[in-house]
Amino acid sequence: MTFERLSWPTRTARLAIRPCEPADLRAVYAVRSLPEVAEWMPSHPASYEDFLLRQGASKAMDRCLVIELDGTVIGDLYLHVEDAWAQAEVSSEAKNAQAEIGWCLSPAHQGKGFVTEATTELVRLCFDDLGVRRLTAQAFADNRPSVRVMERLGMTCEGRFRAESLHRDHGWVDGVVYALLKDDWIR
Ligand SMILES: CC(C)(COP(=O)(O)OP(=O)(O)OC[C@H]1O[C@@H](n2cnc3c(N)ncnc32)[C@H](O)[C@@H]1OP(=O)(O)O)[C@@H](O)C(=O)NCCC(=O)NCCS
Repeated sequence: MTFERLSWPTRTARLAIRPCEPADLRAVYAVRSLPEVAEWMPSHPASYEDFLLRQGASKAMDRCLVIELDGTVIGDLYLHVEDAWAQAEVSSEAKNAQAEIGWCLSPAHQGKGFVTEATTELVRLCFDDLGVRRLTAQAFADNRPSVRVMERLGMTCEGRFRAESLHRDHGWVDGVVYALLKDDWIR
């Protein structure tokens, strides 16, 4: 598992970042269940039990890092390290070569640069510690705060896909994919 290869927590000027544990799930749910957060997230849990079921049924726990401010969980990060596409003869070189990242933050803590700070460390960790060579992030194109995080990280828009994602309220909407190569990363 990706997270076991590293030592935790990793710290930034204001934050601590570490793998999500069962005891964190209430706090993560408290953020994810807010309508203004769920608006652009993959799901809007109807209840804590619904949230637990989804977490349990997916690999979500294995890919979730919590963001702590002064010991309080204020949001979480998504990190999924995966193999890059490769031809069979060179596939071993593509193992764990790329990762998808994502984020969400309690509205009470937005507008202060916390996610940019946390993801800047996540990018460093992926490139320096995990040996990843390409990072991607996806969003609904209209999710401007999330796109701004990608741009602040120095990610490049590699595609805007017309009416490719089905939003629970807005119907078929555009999606964007941003990426950052280690070779293009400016610390
Ligand atoms: C996407 C999301 C995490 C962005 O939150 P955020 O607070 O805007 O992001 P940051 O914590 O990086 O803060 C950046 C904002 O704080 C401001 N800021 C203040 N101090 C700052 C600092 N020291 N460093 C960077 N930015 C700072 C920035 O100007 C920026 O505001 P702006 O985008 O209006 O210019 C948040 O909107 C969210 O959780 N949304 C719901 C869930 C979601 O959509 N997740 C992503 C799905 S793809």
